[in-house]
Amino acid sequence: MKIAVVGSGYVGLVAGACFADLGHDVVVVDNDQQKLAALNRGECPIHENFLPELLHRHRGTRLTFSDDLQSAVRASAAIFVAVGTPPTEQGEADLSYVESVARGIAGAIDSYKVVVEKSTVPVYTSDWVRKIILRNGAEHGEFDVASNPEFLREGTAVTDFLYPDRIVIGADTERCAAVLREIYAPMVDGTYYLRPDAIPRPDRAQIPPPLITTSAKSAELIKHASNAFLAMKISFINAVASICESVGANVQQVCQGIGTDSRIGPRFLNPGIGYGGSCFPKDLMAFRSVARECGYEFRLLDEVIRINEEQRQRFIRKVRSALWTLRGKKLGVLGLAFKGGTDDIRESPAILLIKSLQAEGCEICAYDPAAQERAKEALNSSIKHAESAYEAAEGADALLILTEWEEFASLDLDRLRAALKYPIVIDGRNLYDPHAMAMNGFTYYSVGRPTISPELLTPPKDTRPARKISRS
Ligand SMILES: NC(=O)c1ccc[n+]([C@@H]2O[C@H](COP(=O)([O-])OP(=O)(O)OC[C@H]3O[C@@H](n4cnc5c(N)ncnc54)[C@H](O)[C@@H]3O)[C@@H](O)[C@H]2O)c1
Repeated sequence: MKIAVVGSGYVGLVAGACFADLGHDVVVVDNDQQKLAALNRGECPIHENFLPELLHRHRGTRLTFSDDLQSAVRASAAIFVAVGTPPTEQGEADLSYVESVARGIAGAIDSYKVVVEKSTVPVYTSDWVRKIILRNGAEHGEFDVASNPEFLREGTAVTDFLYPDRIVIGADTERCAAVLREIYAPMVDGTYYLRPDAIPRPDRAQIPPPLITTSAKSAELIKHASNAFLAMKISFINAVASICESVGANVQQVCQGIGTDSRIGPRFLNPGIGYGGSCFPKDLMAFRSVARECGYEFRLLDEVIRINEEQRQRFIRKVRSALWTLRGKKLGVLGLAFKGGTDDIRESPAILLIKSLQAEGCEICAYDPAAQERAKEALNSSIKHAESAYEAAEGADALLILTEWEEFASLDLDRLRAALKYPIVIDGRNLYDPHAMAMNGFTYYSVGRPTISPELLTPPKDTRPARKISRS
């Protein structure tokens, strides 16, 4: 099928490359000339596993890039809109990019088209897109508007796209649903997965993925409700972690006990410094606004957001409790991206924490395997950037772990201890076993687990029973 994808960001580029890998002819449209030039030069503008491979496989054949929306629409049966929907100052979704694309599409409709919302949008957006297209000259029956929300996670976007937990098609006519079913057919009938050159199957993937057909409005709500629920899970476990810290319990053990309940499940029960990224913060605010417009005060979401913000303050207090005063303290920081595996720093808790620590007078030397360049633009030049984790730790009063990159979980601890001025690690992502850190000579702070230091491992000289150190 001939497909246009409008927007070549984290979602649009991945969707375009994956549709091409499924066998479709795809044109990805963007109005950012720099991005288009980079894509046409053969570069991959974002850090995402398997994406360079797919771009290399299909660029110039089944996958092309263009700034000409009108021609792309005329040449395509389905147009996926994957432009940004950032928050306004009031917390609503700014749909002006979606509207502008809808107007552009309207003028080019010359035969039946399916216009698909891939961006995360509030419920009723499909109605608005339909109205805008009609107002701008298209006729009833010449097009349908569908919602096909995207659930990929940055860092594993390509495998998430090709091996999703489910595909949701929100279509209000059978004709429109049939087009979307045809697009996803190689996944739903399983033929894609039989190909020797298919992107490798990740653990836990369900093959073939289930396809869920709903109304457009239900599909729009599925996306907002899913993100709100996941954020709620994170804030919930962070609240539990705070109680663990107060009473000396170990949140990892608590998570194991909760997560083995099949009704709850272990995923997204990872305490830390809170969620960030370009989706959860904005989608929660947008969902709350939509609910309010519909006459429902979704106070649960207020609390999810509040716990998330508080989690960063708790972390700052932890740094203070480890170092006493902060002015003039030198901190090594591991991680700038909002999560491991990506170069995306939008709403990254790491960046927000660095800014707060800088405001308190700390000197920061940071390292991230992929997000360094983007972070340089977002942070002022008073931050030093290191080329490795050990360089970031060099001469620091403490090391902070703020992003869960795999490489941060397997550091050479002897080398790290030798680099630091004081062997103090404050881990906002619980990457290490506290007991092992103390055995390696570190005073180790983490989230929801007792703080431990080498002295606590030495048996006391008097006859009182030794204090128990909980192992994780
Ligand atoms: N990033 C994620 O992990 C993720 C996951 C699921 C859903 N989403 C949703 O998908 C949407 C896109 O997110 P993203 O992270 O890919 O955004 P992004 O900012 O990375 O990309 C958006 C792209 O759209 C382009 N664009 C904007 N206006 C345009 C126009 N008029 N014509 C052509 N191109 C235009 C921009 O130049 C940019 O390249 C958002 O609604 C987001 O909430 C994102």
